[in-house]
Amino acid sequence: MEGLIICKDEKYIDQVRGTSILSLLARKDDFEIMLYEFSAERPNSITPGNTPDLMEFYYIIEGSILIEDGDKSIKLYKGDYFYVQGIQDTVPFRTITNTKMLYVTSKPVYNLLYTYTDELSSLLKKSEDKDIYTHKHGNRVQDYSVKIASKLGLSTEINYALALASLFHDIGKCFIPDEILNKTSSLSENEFNYIKNHSTYSSELLSGKFIDDISSIVKQHHERLDGSGYPNGLNKDEIRIEAKIIAVADSYDAMTSDRAYRKAMDPKTALEDLKNCIGKYYDESVVMAFEQVLMDERIL
Ligand SMILES: [Fe+2]
Ligand SMILES: [Fe+2]
Repeated sequence: MEGLIICKDEKYIDQVRGTSILSLLARKDDFEIMLYEFSAERPNSITPGNTPDLMEFYYIIEGSILIEDGDKSIKLYKGDYFYVQGIQDTVPFRTITNTKMLYVTSKPVYNLLYTYTDELSSLLKKSEDKDIYTHKHGNRVQDYSVKIASKLGLSTEINYALALASLFHDIGKCFIPDEILNKTSSLSENEFNYIKNHSTYSSELLSGKFIDDISSIVKQHHERLDGSGYPNGLNKDEIRIEAKIIAVADSYDAMTSDRAYRKAMDPKTALEDLKNCIGKYYDESVVMAFEQVLMDERIL
């Protein structure tokens, strides 16, 4: 486009909605100008990536964030800005309130971010559409997981990986036949083995995208403390904290949603069920943090 370009009424070149909303406002040769919108209390991070001399500039238009600089946490508000160039380590940040940032990069990144988010979001939709009972399951599990992690005081970096892993944990279900996923009678051993493959499929789909941790967290979301889980029968100390959190959030959401073979449980009964399996399946600190979350939200 040449000459004067005026854009009004939320007109963008393109937009992608995932865990945040990224809108491409303008681009020329190597650089891009984007608008990033995040909801409150969302973990995120800036990663070194594959483009060594990339400069990324962020200007806060609205809202507030907490950014980690080494071991210091710094609050930034409307009008504040920061930029990164040649970073070696991930820079974690977290939104405090709903936040809008102007995001300018010295090399094109929109398509890269778009491809990941778009591809994964469409797989997520595909896997959730296959099973009539799991609509928005990923979003709910993400919401609970992020809240549990902040109750446990985990770092923003862990929280960022957790937010993506919890959202996409079941995308591998898109490879499981519909008739098995939606079966109302009990599953044969063979059929159950089919379903068990989904955590490995999810982790393969996420491999090489975003940061490496996400794929390994997702692979472990059905592992249980006593080694009875799958795919690897890992024990307590071998399971990552992020996977322990997803396990609790995931089980709770499954119990409190209607299923083909039973009605939804009420929140109190579902939590009791989780508590009864502390030490066997679920981590105690995670379940107790989740109880606090449910009380804060007045669900209990
Ligand atoms: Fe799962
Ligand atoms: Fe799930």
